[in-house]
Amino acid sequence: MVVRPVIAGMKDPPALQRALVDAQYLADDALATAAYLALALGKPLLLEGAPGVGKTEAAKALGGVLGRQVIRLQCFEGIDAGAALYEWNYPRQMLAIRQAGEDYVNLYAEDFLLERPLLQALRNPKDTLLLIDEIDRADHEFEAFLLEFLSDFTISIPETGTVRATQAPVVVLTSNRTRDLHEALRRRCVYHWIDYPDPALEARIVMTRAGTVARATAESVVASVGLLRAEPLAKPPGVAETVEWAEAATLLNAQGARWPEAFRRSIGVAIKDHDDMAYLSDRLSTILPGEAA
Ligand SMILES: Nc1ncnc2c1ncn2[C@@H]1O[C@H](COP(=O)(O)OP(=O)(O)OP(=O)(O)O)[C@@H](O)[C@H]1O
Ligand SMILES: [Mg+2]
Repeated sequence: MVVRPVIAGMKDPPALQRALVDAQYLADDALATAAYLALALGKPLLLEGAPGVGKTEAAKALGGVLGRQVIRLQCFEGIDAGAALYEWNYPRQMLAIRQAGEDYVNLYAEDFLLERPLLQALRNPKDTLLLIDEIDRADHEFEAFLLEFLSDFTISIPETGTVRATQAPVVVLTSNRTRDLHEALRRRCVYHWIDYPDPALEARIVMTRAGTVARATAESVVASVGLLRAEPLAKPPGVAETVEWAEAATLLNAQGARWPEAFRRSIGVAIKDHDDMAYLSDRLSTILPGEAA
C-alpha cells in the first residue's frame, strides 16, 4: 500500500502517538491507530464521544503534528451552504457600484468573495486540516450536502465557475452524538469513539495540561471525577474539568485552604449545573478527593 505524503515521517500508529504527545495530546492506542489509518487511506476521520473527551483538541493536535493550519467549520442548527462555502460581500458590492458611477464593475471578482471554511480548505488542500466540528448540530439536509462535498471535493460557484481540490484535504469530523449520523456519511469515514480516558491516562493528561499540580493531586482528582461520571448527572465533567479542578484546588491550597476543603470550594470548576449540585450536595463529602499532595 502507498503511504501518502501526508504522514511522511510517521511510519506507524505509535510514531503518530509520540508526535501527538509532543503536541501535548495524549491519545490512546485505538485513537492513534484510527487517526493514522484515516491519514494513510486518505479518508476523513469521524470522532464521536461525550462532551469534553478531547475530540476538538485531537483535531487541533493532528493539525499541529502535520504542520497544517486547522480550518474549523463549527456546525449549528440551521447552518447552510452559504455559511460553510462562500458568500458575496453585498455591502462591498454596493459601495463599488456607487463609487464606479457609470463605469463597469465586475461584482463577482475575487475581492467580493468571502471564503468560508470549506472553500478555504479546498483552495489550500496541502496546507490545511479541515475540522467539521459538532456535525450532529446541523440538520440532515446539511449533512447530505457535506456528504457530497466529501465525495468529490468540488464546489460550484455559479457566478465564477467550479473549484476543485488538487488533492483530498485532511478532514476530521466530530459529533457529540446528540443524534445519529447518516449511514452514508459514516461509511465514507474512519470511525472512532473517544471514551473518557482510563485513570492513569487522565492523570497524565492533567500533569501535561495543568500548570503545576502535584501527582497526588492529579490522581485524587481523577479518582473523584470518575465517581462523578458514574452518577446520573446532566453534565458530567469532561477532561477539561478534571484539568481545571486540579489547577483550581492547587491554587486555593497554595493560599492556605486545606484538603479536601480546597476541592469543595473549587467544585464549580467541575460541576456546572445547578440540579447536579443539588443532587450531589448531601453525598459530596464521600466523592471529593481526599488528602492530596
Ligand atoms: N487526550 C488528551 N490529551 C491532552 N489534553 C486533552 C485530552 N483530552 C482532552 N484534553 C483536554 O480537554 C480539553 C477539552 O477537550 P475538547 O474541547 O477537545 O473536548 P470535546 O470532546 O471537543 O468537547 P465538546 O464535545 O464539548 O466540544 C482540551 O482543551 C484539553 O485541555
Ligand atoms: Mg469540541
